Amino acid sequence: MNIVLLGAPGSGKGTMAQKLTGELNIPQISTGDIFRKNLREETPLGLQVKDILNSGGLVPDEITIEIVRNRLAEADCANGYILDGFPRSIVQAKALDSFQNIDFAINLDVDKQTIVSRLSGRRFCPNCSGTFHVSTLENTTVCPVCGGTLIIRKDDSEETVLERFRVYETTTLPLIEYYKAQGKLVTVDGTGGIDVVYRRIMDVLHK
Ligand code: AP5
Ligand code: MG
Repeated sequence: MNIVLLGAPGSGKGTMAQKLTGELNIPQISTGDIFRKNLREETPLGLQVKDILNSGGLVPDEITIEIVRNRLAEADCANGYILDGFPRSIVQAKALDSFQNIDFAINLDVDKQTIVSRLSGRRFCPNCSGTFHVSTLENTTVCPVCGGTLIIRKDDSEETVLERFRVYETTTLPLIEYYKAQGKLVTVDGTGGIDVVYRRIMDVLHK
């Protein structure tokens, strides 16, 4: 199954992708995680995208498309994958359609107030890419999965979150109509606890 997860920053794409990947046994491909890893390792790509990520803008389409095209050609994607954070523009969606066949685009629908509270308490593990919320962590500095040191993402500052929202509304939101026109859009209420939202997604996939 080839799945695209759509939704505003902080809507829960990464959280749901991590649960789906465990149950469906297909990889999660997060363009945000790929860029952050390159940034941490100071690769040429990391240096190229550093200012873009830290300001909340979008990495140019041609760079992102090439990364995803190569990643989806790897063997572990042969039985399907979950795209988390890609596509993010109509240009990216059209490119994806030219080399892959998407089954579902799941849109996580979450109000802005909930998102602000989720992002302000988010903690990220650079070691295993685990994403958590302070409200569910016993220790807010240690990853409960791998023991790595949890960090606050640089782009979770108030100013950058506002910019990410602006970019989402102008450039990414049109993808909802794009996938609706293809009959592939499934909108899921993304509010409520993690397990509740996950169950809603699984119910849709089982239908
Ligand atoms: P990216 O990493 O994709 O960031 P994003 O889209 O802004 O999304 P987030 O990761 O912030 O949120 P999420 O929806 O994954 O929510 P999460 O599960 O963490 O991209 C980062 C940057 O990379 C971009 O700004 C851009 O510069 C670049 N980039 C990436 N892809 C690109 C592309 N295709 N083209 C160009 N540039 C690109 O959840 C948030 C919090 O809420 C967590 O604390 C979590 O524990 C909590 N939570 C989640 N679900 C629930 C729930 N149901 N109940 C309670 N808490 C919950
Ligand atoms: Mg994410």
